[in-house]
Amino acid sequence: MIPTVLQSRPDRVPLRALDVIAKKRDGRELSAVEIEYFIQEYTRGEVPDYQAAAWLMAVICRGMTRAETAALTHAMLLSGETLDLSVYPAAKVDKHSTGGVGDKTSLVIAPLVAAGGLYVPMISGRGLGHTGGTLDKLESIPGFNVNLPLKQFRHVLGECGCAMIGQTAEIAPADRKLYALRDVTATVESPYLICASIMGKKLAEGIDALVLDVKTGSGAFMKCDEDAAFLAELMVETGKSVGKRVVALITGMDQPLGISVGNALEVMECMQVLRGGGSEDLRELCIELAGWMLYLGGKMQTAEQGRSEAERLLDSGAALDKFRKLIELQGGNVGILEDPLLLPHSKFTAEITADSTGFIGEINCQTIGNACVVLGGGRNKKEDAIDPSVGIIMRRRLGDRVASGESLCTIHYNSEIQADEAAALLRNSFSISESVAPKKPLIHRII
Ligand code: URA
Repeated sequence: MIPTVLQSRPDRVPLRALDVIAKKRDGRELSAVEIEYFIQEYTRGEVPDYQAAAWLMAVICRGMTRAETAALTHAMLLSGETLDLSVYPAAKVDKHSTGGVGDKTSLVIAPLVAAGGLYVPMISGRGLGHTGGTLDKLESIPGFNVNLPLKQFRHVLGECGCAMIGQTAEIAPADRKLYALRDVTATVESPYLICASIMGKKLAEGIDALVLDVKTGSGAFMKCDEDAAFLAELMVETGKSVGKRVVALITGMDQPLGISVGNALEVMECMQVLRGGGSEDLRELCIELAGWMLYLGGKMQTAEQGRSEAERLLDSGAALDKFRKLIELQGGNVGILEDPLLLPHSKFTAEITADSTGFIGEINCQTIGNACVVLGGGRNKKEDAIDPSVGIIMRRRLGDRVASGESLCTIHYNSEIQADEAAALLRNSFSISESVAPKKPLIHRII
């Protein structure tokens, strides 16, 4: 049982959730004891969702100090167990993204880095706000189990070199509950909450090194490079303070990564990258992130060497072999690798076409993510089930030329009503201009 703060401070006035909420609402700094109390009691079910939602909203509006953020991260970590993976004979490394649209690199990177001889004990999340989640993508593979008990998680990790699960009742249970609540209460976009959510569960994994992919742009939670850098520094500082090797890459999210948005569609695209093909930007980012992991995990002397090794592992089929093994060990149907039609697919498709001729000047990437949620690919309420088959395939990217009447993107859908609503959002997501805007690099900065 998790010890309660109340028990450890019998001489003091008992804490009340209401007071903790009011203090944050009024913009005052919470103590570590208050934060720990609130997180523990919420995890135990003693603080209800409505009070936690009020507190989250107060944090969104008032922010947190560094000390509060450190205390929250610590409380998230302490809400469950910390894995001891020292029996495995190589470094344990992971990567985590702050969330984007079409952001599917985890499915490629975990088997890729495992093929490079490191261990990747990955604890991921579901869709959050307008962004997709690794767990929802993995669950679109028929039979794939992301809820493995810890014993089995360790077994898969030992056999395959990587294992991919969600937050559990044992590991980062506070994040499991708060993450689902933030998703549906418009309380995602806070660097402090994102830092505690990510670092709490990553530090519980028992890793030696971590690569963070901090997204910036219209499809990210941090819309500009300054905010992304602030979040990156917060997380790198937190990781380093507990002795981990941590690097953060600030990467562009002004358009979906790769061409697909939607769970099963994204799995299909990852399989192409694992076969040495796939969209250029998706492959580039997977290689960059995996290169850093191979370097921080001690397999390569430099990140540059790590990138070359990552390319080799993708092109040789070694990463794909690991992905096959991962699917098999986690109960999924490996037949999808030979026959992608075994993945869920929607009944209908429709094109969204350009109403003028020119170049794609801007894409509102968040709206594209929202359109996928409208189609059923994400949640509006905690209880909502995901439709893994729906989504969007991008036919034009930033800077591409398009003629009036040509396709901008294709919707994969199962309900006319949802498709109409998504189509209206998508039509407004593309701005067509007369001249080509300069191309932005995918990787903006490394911290
Ligand atoms: N990913 C997480 O795990 N948590 C967040 O808050 C955002 C992205």
